Amino acid sequence: MKTLLFAALAAFTATAAFADNAGPAPKPQTGHRGNSNGFFSPFPFDGGEAIYKGVCAGCHMPDAKGAVGAGAYPALAKNENLETAAYPVAMVLKGQKAMPGLGMQLDDQQVADVVNYVRTHFGNKYRDKVKPEDVKAAR
Ligand code: HEC
Repeated sequence: MKTLLFAALAAFTATAAFADNAGPAPKPQTGHRGNSNGFFSPFPFDGGEAIYKGVCAGCHMPDAKGAVGAGAYPALAKNENLETAAYPVAMVLKGQKAMPGLGMQLDDQQVADVVNYVRTHFGNKYRDKVKPEDVKAAR
């Protein structure tokens, strides 16, 4: 992550030096979406559904019913453990046993979006929304 930021800054500085004849300097390359946590998410997904499909479905399955094979991946479908929003938020940020913590891969908005998505899909009907600020506080 640091390397990416450094490369972006270096590219920006180099461009700025020649900005006189090059017209307006292009915006520095910022990766996916930086800033909210001071790092860039390597996952280029926006919105709960895209994040679920791109990040979670590989283990929890596209239908969120989980799987048992090389490991046991619990179903997120019709899962009462999702009732308290803080629980899935903490799980996504920090992980537990074979569930990897994704706090360094997903920014606050992405964690909020994917948690809101699983809590309102797959037979779950928990409508209170997690906000990016809640995620930030839980880090
Ligand atoms: C590498 C596989 C893997 C990925 C990727 C993954 N999970 Fe998990 N997840 C697991 C495993 C394994 C567990 C069970 C952990 C345990 O044994 O305590 C789990 C548990 C959970 C639980 C707790 C379920 C319960 O009933 O206690 C939630 C919520 C959850 N994951 C959400 C997510 C979300 C949302 C994503 C995507 C952002 C995600 N997981 C990505 C493997 C994964």
